[in-house]
Amino acid sequence: GPRVEILDSATDVAERAAARIAAACAAPSPVLGLATGRTPLAVYAALRERIAPGGLRLDHATFFNLDEYAGLPPGHPASFASYMRRELFDPASVPEGRWHLPDGNGGPAEADGYEAAIAAAGGIGLQLLGIGRNGHVGFNEPGAAHDSRTRRVRLTEQTRQANAPDFPAGTPVPEHAVTMGIGTILEAREILLLATGAAKAEALAAALEGPVTEAVPASALQRHPRVTVLCDVAAGRNLR
Ligand code: F6R
Repeated sequence: GPRVEILDSATDVAERAAARIAAACAAPSPVLGLATGRTPLAVYAALRERIAPGGLRLDHATFFNLDEYAGLPPGHPASFASYMRRELFDPASVPEGRWHLPDGNGGPAEADGYEAAIAAAGGIGLQLLGIGRNGHVGFNEPGAAHDSRTRRVRLTEQTRQANAPDFPAGTPVPEHAVTMGIGTILEAREILLLATGAAKAEALAAALEGPVTEAVPASALQRHPRVTVLCDVAAGRNLR
């Protein structure tokens, strides 16, 4: 099952995750899966600090993000594409064409195309994940099939409320998104799940120590042979 590292602080989680990503990027043609949200912000900051001539380079790697909102115009500041450009891809000089997000406004053909692009890149070597307070991974909300693929999904009210601070006042959080499926995520050769803060304690314990059930999407990770969980003491406090 998953290997759990409970670290002193969220900063330690970020540093450890950044080190793990940097190590993966020492390979010749790394393919990484990335997440957005608040948890990985410190990871991307730590990666930006490591990028230096003769130091870490990410401009030879290929990136596939988990998810994107539906209904936002291209370049909307709250889109995950804008987030990724701001936090990592632009500062790390990752060329366009080597970073990918699902097309939030696409249909089934674009979703299938995303799966095909991942496969054509050789599959994802290391996938970074956060976890929602309801146990979601990507935007696979409770009830998502464990063999689900990239597709359009409806967001729960809880998730929309959690992400409302990313949107300007008066701009509603989209009701739909396109996300890699649980089945897509489980095909990554290695998975790094991050959880920080007490708000994640219940979801993390349910995911790692509860039954494998579609009611807790992250519990599917118990079936993957190479999962590392990096959490701080607050998020890890309900673990046995
Ligand atoms: C983000 C994503 C989500 C987040 C989760 C936790 O791409 O797919 O599953 O990882 O909602 O979000 P934060 O880190 O903001 O608590």
